[in-house]
This record gives sequence, structure tokens and C-alpha cells, in this order.
Amino acid sequence: MNLLEAKNLSHAFDYELFNDISITLSKGESVAIVGRSGSGKSTILHILSTLLKPNGGKVFYKGKDIYSLNDKELLAIRRYEMGIIFQSHYLFKGFTGFENIKIASLISQKPIYRSLLRRLGIENTLKKNVGDLSGGQQQRISIARVLVKSPTIIFADEPTGNLDKETAEDVMNVLFSYIYEKEGAMLLVTHDEELAKKCSRAYRLKDKTLNLM
Ligand SMILES: Nc1ncnc2c1ncn2[C@@H]1O[C@H](COP(=O)(O)OP(=O)(O)O)[C@@H](O)[C@H]1O
Ligand SMILES: [Mg+2]
Repeated sequence: MNLLEAKNLSHAFDYELFNDISITLSKGESVAIVGRSGSGKSTILHILSTLLKPNGGKVFYKGKDIYSLNDKELLAIRRYEMGIIFQSHYLFKGFTGFENIKIASLISQKPIYRSLLRRLGIENTLKKNVGDLSGGQQQRISIARVLVKSPTIIFADEPTGNLDKETAEDVMNVLFSYIYEKEGAMLLVTHDEELAKKCSRAYRLKDKTLNLM
């Protein structure tokens, strides 16, 4: 079953980024998009994750045309169904790692499982102010904050960009097992072709179109 289906998307800012691209995400699937910097990968991710209405085309989540919903309905999907992991994490500075995760838990009314914290290797950093943590530790806190919401679809934009190879692998394995267990799906934007190949499908965004790798 398709969780997410994007049909005939086109979008331009200063110039046309892509034209008539379609992509689907089914239960349990991870789909990667690679491509040059500036080709429009993040823009696709924003369109699929409720953040940006495309110039052309439609996005269906569980059969609903998301950009025809009212603000309240759209916000509910964004808040409860989707988890977005950005390259630069937006943690609340001046708060501890645990407080940052707790906020997500309160908003989504979901518990924080110790097993998740353990798998991300952040149990021992939770009491520290996030400003005092390394980039990699902060990124893992931000991933915990997203997974605590228990989203159905994960959108990850270069999530391992500032992690060393080993930590990146650990983090990706947490994400892969999460979507498998949850029967969710993941859209991954990455520069790392090796990582892209670990996904169920991988596309290259080039010349305004998506091609299967
Ligand atoms: N909100 C925006 N307003 C204007 N231009 C934008 C906006 N977002 C992205 N762009 C431009 O669109 C192009 C593609 O950006 P992006 O989707 O971030 O590419 P990628 O993620 O592949 O590097 C870039 O030239 C970028 O400057
Ligand atoms: Mg980008």
C-alpha cells in the first residue's frame, strides 16, 4: 500500500528545478534521492513533507491530497505522522538533551523509550546542555527527538552529513529498523551513494528529472 504518493511535481524558484516527477513511498520502504548540490533535493523533501506547496502536481498521504487540506488538518499530519530530520538540527540551545527530547514527547503525547536512547548511544549525554555536545551527539539527540513522536514517515535531509562513518552507520541502522518495525517509510536525501544503495530504491535527480539508479 502507498503511504505517500507524489504525482507530476514541478517547482521553480529562480529557475525550474524539476518538471513532472513522480515518486511513491510504500509501507516498510526507504527511498533515497541523490544529486548535485542545488539540484532541488531538499525542495522535493519539503514538498513531500507538507512544508512547501509545489507549483505543479499533487501529494497524497494515505490517499488524501495534502495541499487541499485546511491548515489544521495539514498541521495534524505534520505533527503526528511525519518526522523531519534536517542536516542542521534545530535543538533548543540552553536546554539539556533530555529536555529537548521531552518537549517532543509532551507535544506528541508519546513516551520516551530507554531502548531508543540506548540504540542511538545518547544515554550518557542527556544531562548535558546541548550546546556543550559535539555535532554528532547533537544530531543523535535531534534524531531521538523525531523518533519519540513515533512518526509514520521519516524525511531525512543529509542526516549523517556531520557524523563519522561508524556513527553514521549506527544512526542509519536505527532509522532502517525503525521504519521496518513501525511499517513506516523513509525518504532520504544524501550525497552518499553507498548509503543510497542500502535503501529499497534510489533515484538520481538530474536534468530536472528523477532516474532510478
Ligand atoms: N525558499 C527558497 N527561495 C528561493 N530559492 C530557493 C528556496 N529554497 C531553495 N531555493 C533554491 O533552489 C535551488 C535548489 O535548492 P535545494 O532544493 O536546497 O537543493 P539541494 O538540496 O539539492 O542542494 C537552489 O538554487 C536554492 O538556492
Ligand atoms: Mg539540500
